[in-house]
Amino acid sequence: MSKSAELAQLIRARAGAEPPEYGLVLGSGLGHLAAAVQGTAIPYSDLPGFPHAGVSGHVPQLVIGRLEGRRVAVFGGRAHYYESGRADAMRLPLEVLRALGCRRLILTNAAGSLRPDLPPGALMLLSDHINFSGTNPLIGEPSDARFVPMTAAHDPGLRAALQAAAAAEGLPLPEGVYCWFSGPSFETPAEIRAARALGADAVGMSTVPEIILARFLGLDCAAISVITNMGAGLSDEAISHDHTKAMAPLGAAKLERILRRFLGA
Ligand code: HPA
Repeated sequence: MSKSAELAQLIRARAGAEPPEYGLVLGSGLGHLAAAVQGTAIPYSDLPGFPHAGVSGHVPQLVIGRLEGRRVAVFGGRAHYYESGRADAMRLPLEVLRALGCRRLILTNAAGSLRPDLPPGALMLLSDHINFSGTNPLIGEPSDARFVPMTAAHDPGLRAALQAAAAAEGLPLPEGVYCWFSGPSFETPAEIRAARALGADAVGMSTVPEIILARFLGLDCAAISVITNMGAGLSDEAISHDHTKAMAPLGAAKLERILRRFLGA
């Protein structure tokens, strides 16, 4: 049996066999949504091969249960490329999600903004992304399935449903392009200007490898950024991880309303 099938079996034994309709990955400072799920929390440490999510602001557990009546699997923490140098650090968790029978994935993250109309506290729905990291989570994958088309990686149907949920809540949900930098250092002002010139609207250190892996695994996906700061050089505010964690709750309340409305629809 594959490792993901084994872990799926273990998770079913603890949380029940009903497949999750949605997987949700929670970004820095956005973990509290997991607490709203009625169900079973399984620490990553009980799931061999899951990341020992070592980034503060993340809660390393998988919560399977119901949110707004939908069966969901919520990943409270993610592994980032910058923690290990492995761009495929989230491959096993996403394989397990697929093995549980899930077909849809919603990713969230904290991001820096490149647009004055996206200030800290704003949300941005990813319309597309730029992989600016120089790596790819599918490097080393031997099968031809590695040649994943990325043309509609950010699923138009899921995006439309998230837009409808935001509109129903009376919340703006502008769309934009997210540029993946490897981190863990923040960008320089010159890198931020370069990202803007390339067509990016926000920058961050996650999500893109997960989108690539999700498409490889046949999951439909969409992602929302919570803007926690302006990109380096675009404001006088100092950029730090503490600042990210402190600012994330500003957007998290809006994100939760949109996700609840989306799931309940
Ligand atoms: N850059 C990269 N990642 C981030 C930022 C940023 O400015 N803010 C939050 N995550």
